[in-house]
Amino acid sequence: MSSDSGTRDPKAIAQVKAALAAKFGNRLVTSLAVRQQHANTITWIENQPPDAVVYPQSTEEVQDIVRICSSHRVPVIPFGTGTSLEGHVNAPFGGVSIDFRDMNQVLAVHPEDLDCVIQPGLTRKALNEYLRDQGVFFPIDPGADASLGGMASTRASGTNAVRYGTMKDNVLALKVVLANGEVMSTARRAKKTSAGYDLTRLIVGAEGTLGIITELTLRLSGIPEAISGGICPFPSVDACCKAAIQTIQTGIPVARIELLDALQVRAVNLYSKLTLRETPMLFLEFHGTEGSVAEQSERFGEIAEELGGGPFEWTLRPEERTKLWEARHNAAFSTFTLRPGSSMIPTDVCVPISRLAECVAETQADIAESGLIAPIVGHVGDGNFHLTLLVDMNDPEEIKVAKAFNERLVQRALAMDGTCTGEHGVGQGKMKYLEAEHGLPALEAMRAVKRALDPDGIMNPGKIV
Ligand code: LAC
Ligand code: ZN
Repeated sequence: MSSDSGTRDPKAIAQVKAALAAKFGNRLVTSLAVRQQHANTITWIENQPPDAVVYPQSTEEVQDIVRICSSHRVPVIPFGTGTSLEGHVNAPFGGVSIDFRDMNQVLAVHPEDLDCVIQPGLTRKALNEYLRDQGVFFPIDPGADASLGGMASTRASGTNAVRYGTMKDNVLALKVVLANGEVMSTARRAKKTSAGYDLTRLIVGAEGTLGIITELTLRLSGIPEAISGGICPFPSVDACCKAAIQTIQTGIPVARIELLDALQVRAVNLYSKLTLRETPMLFLEFHGTEGSVAEQSERFGEIAEELGGGPFEWTLRPEERTKLWEARHNAAFSTFTLRPGSSMIPTDVCVPISRLAECVAETQADIAESGLIAPIVGHVGDGNFHLTLLVDMNDPEEIKVAKAFNERLVQRALAMDGTCTGEHGVGQGKMKYLEAEHGLPALEAMRAVKRALDPDGIMNPGKIV
């Protein structure tokens, strides 16, 4: 299913395609199949392909693309691996998708400063593969093997965020091509700065609507001396949430604490060929010295036991842990095994940790009443959880029920001082919630920034504001 919603200027697009073809040759692609692959393919949001896809090899080439497009007022949409979940890469007004496939190099590693400089098309796994022998790693790990440019653009996080923060905490500086074709550097490599507005954090999470990231300086972390991890079953999702809350509130520096409900465990078993008990559980990991991870693991085990959970079986062996975390990273995709042929509506609310159990309990009651198939997985140490609503797009009644459920979920999170999206971003899917979340003055401030940096509205239009 594809559509061309919004207005397009066919003459301007033809001129842009001709100018780009002259410059990029076969690095400009206009076949329908490739264009469709560069629009949303993963979730229920419809596929809105761009008019062309171009593969630059340098910041200068990105500048050329932006200058050509801007002189004809044709949109540009940056593209990493296409794993965003809210229609971020769709082209509702047409335009040119800039695919960073060929800009995937590590430019510098400074282990002595715990940072590195990379190109935006590099994926998180490729970076860690590159860093493997240097005693450092990059901790941010959304489910997919996403590109780091895309992760910065959506302000992604993942399972390690409870200990290491999100992209907002781990991007030190960016090089950004602005709508006028100029290149802006947002900061130096210094670990901290008070020199003016924080343009790095403005661009992180801007989803390509203010400029196009062509280089990132990332903060790295030392590989811990010891890692312990394992799974802990609980009698209920509520007990899982309470254990997560107590773990955080008592200050155990847990590195990962991830909730899976029984249905999600079934999906993970089916997809990743595991034989986990199909009961609510937490996946956990602790980082430190051998002594400190043992102590953290034991303290967590006591919390679990008090809540009727456990036993917490943990290990220092890497092979077993790797298998578990791989299964966790594939959790969202594994849900299709529960209802083959369905489409996915992902949700992503995040609430203050003290409200987590309440928010999840009310949401579980709501799922039961709605009759939806919706496994739960969550970064519960951050108060962030996802439901994957598995819906039949050919059943309008079911879509209506799912949409109404989604609205109630967001309202519930906002009422608890939470957010409609903890880590996936706004894209097209969450735009309608921003006013309720931020209020009009904040939304107007965002729009003013957008107008100032992108007066013709060519940078990934139809997203966020
Ligand atoms: C995850 C993605 C869906 O947590 O955010 O797996
Ligand atoms: Zn997630």
